[in-house]
Amino acid sequence: MGNVIGIDLGTTYSAMSTIDETGRPKIVTNSEGKNITPSCILLTENKLEVGEEARRMLGLDDNTCGRFKREMGKNIKLKLGNKEYSPADLSAVVLKKLKQDAEKSIGEISEAVVTIPANFNNEAREATMDAAKIAGLNVQYIVNEPTAAALYYAFEGGHELGGIYAVYDLGGGTFDISIIQVNGQDVDVIATNGVQVLGGDDFDNIIIEMAKEKYKEVTGETLASEDFTKSNAEEEKKSLSKREKVTVRINRQIIELTKKEFEEKIAYLITQAEMLCESTFDEAKISVSDIKGVFLVGGSTRVPAVLQSVKDTFKQEPISTVNVDEVVSLGAALYAAYKGDKANLNTVQKKAIEQISVTESTSKCFGTEAIVRNEARNSDEVMNTIIIRKGEKIPCEKTSSYFTSHEGQTRIKIKITESVAPEEDMNFVKIIWEGELDLPPDRPAGQELLFTYKYDDNQIMKCKFVDKESGKEKKVELSMANNNSNTASEIEEFLVE
Ligand SMILES: Nc1ncnc2c1ncn2[C@@H]1O[C@H](COP(=O)(O)OP(=O)(O)OP(=O)(O)O)[C@@H](O)[C@H]1O
Ligand SMILES: [Mg+2]
Repeated sequence: MGNVIGIDLGTTYSAMSTIDETGRPKIVTNSEGKNITPSCILLTENKLEVGEEARRMLGLDDNTCGRFKREMGKNIKLKLGNKEYSPADLSAVVLKKLKQDAEKSIGEISEAVVTIPANFNNEAREATMDAAKIAGLNVQYIVNEPTAAALYYAFEGGHELGGIYAVYDLGGGTFDISIIQVNGQDVDVIATNGVQVLGGDDFDNIIIEMAKEKYKEVTGETLASEDFTKSNAEEEKKSLSKREKVTVRINRQIIELTKKEFEEKIAYLITQAEMLCESTFDEAKISVSDIKGVFLVGGSTRVPAVLQSVKDTFKQEPISTVNVDEVVSLGAALYAAYKGDKANLNTVQKKAIEQISVTESTSKCFGTEAIVRNEARNSDEVMNTIIIRKGEKIPCEKTSSYFTSHEGQTRIKIKITESVAPEEDMNFVKIIWEGELDLPPDRPAGQELLFTYKYDDNQIMKCKFVDKESGKEKKVELSMANNNSNTASEIEEFLVE
């Protein structure tokens, strides 16, 4: 019998949790005894080291790497020392460290759930599953961060939840806002939106900017990056969450950073988050007065100006019962136990987990390009048609019929599209796959073709295109276009023991 763990693989910090003997989620500390682990890697004498030291050194030379979560699923390589790694490889290094630490403290891990931002696309989801595999974790499920957080608040909230809630997650790299419907422990995400480049990281950059300006004012000289690093900036930023101003000593010079100026400079970022909240209310077809509670997630919600913005936007005091940077991993541990093999649970744990039920809905539309007759204009138009609508319960499978347009047609071109709204104009959709299906010859126009889109538990899409008469078909598993990960063994040789 092994343990289940939930891992919040964050842009800046990661956390892991398990289910204790009594069926409650609890944080698993890393080998340094910390609840959260920086998602940063340092290359030292051919070893890859994850953690605090890497975070301190981040950005100082080529031997450190961080913030790669933002690149997940992209077909790019990131440099570390004189080697190059895919974002999935680097995530795997972080996951491996977490796995090793967890095994040391709680024993063998049988199943793990890793969380991802709700707005991660197919490729980023696949890349996350890949990273877990490279790290040697048995990950059957990934779960959206807001869902994990809501699950945790619903489970541990102390009182039964019921109605519409919001999950406001401002972390290190990303901002996510989700509107959820909760019935007891039943969590249904009805609308979710996110910005993949809005978070504490941007606040740190603003602190650096402020420090540079002040330094120039005081000394007339340009402040070198190594004299005031990102991690220095982060410390000062955290201090500004508690006080009105901080004095910083750089190269025997004293500069002062004020909360007032910091707040002025981050105002446009906070506005961006506010606007996304408003449009998400519209999308969920709710008004702010329908929201019974706002759950806070992410370390950056500790910034007083952010907290104030949440109060103003949601017209209520947000709910923040536990450590905001641990909520997602705690929820992921619950989800791991809920989805996983119940044989791994004791009787008490089973009973606790039986109370959980989670369903989610799609956050995007998926469709295909087709020629559609416009009777009004008496013309045929090429447009995007939707097969899976936004808001469909997951997992789901939908089939639509299409027809060949001319006699003797032996081929169809297929495009799989993704859009945030039910868009008709092909210029405004993302084409996530393109291909062709060959058809039998000598047939009249109007042959029926069945397009089936299947969206699985992990929100990864699989599509099937079938010529009804002949049964000819094409199956598409939307996964990473290029598998550009290094092999497990290649990563292995660099891992810290
Ligand atoms: N007291 C504080 N004041 C201001 N910012 C804080 C404070 N504590 C933590 N943070 C910031 O919170 C961020 C980390 O939050 P969290 O651990 O939730 O993010 P993450 O999960 O790594 O990111 P993401 O969810 O975007 O992937 C960092 O930018 C950190 O500096
Ligand atoms: Mg997070």
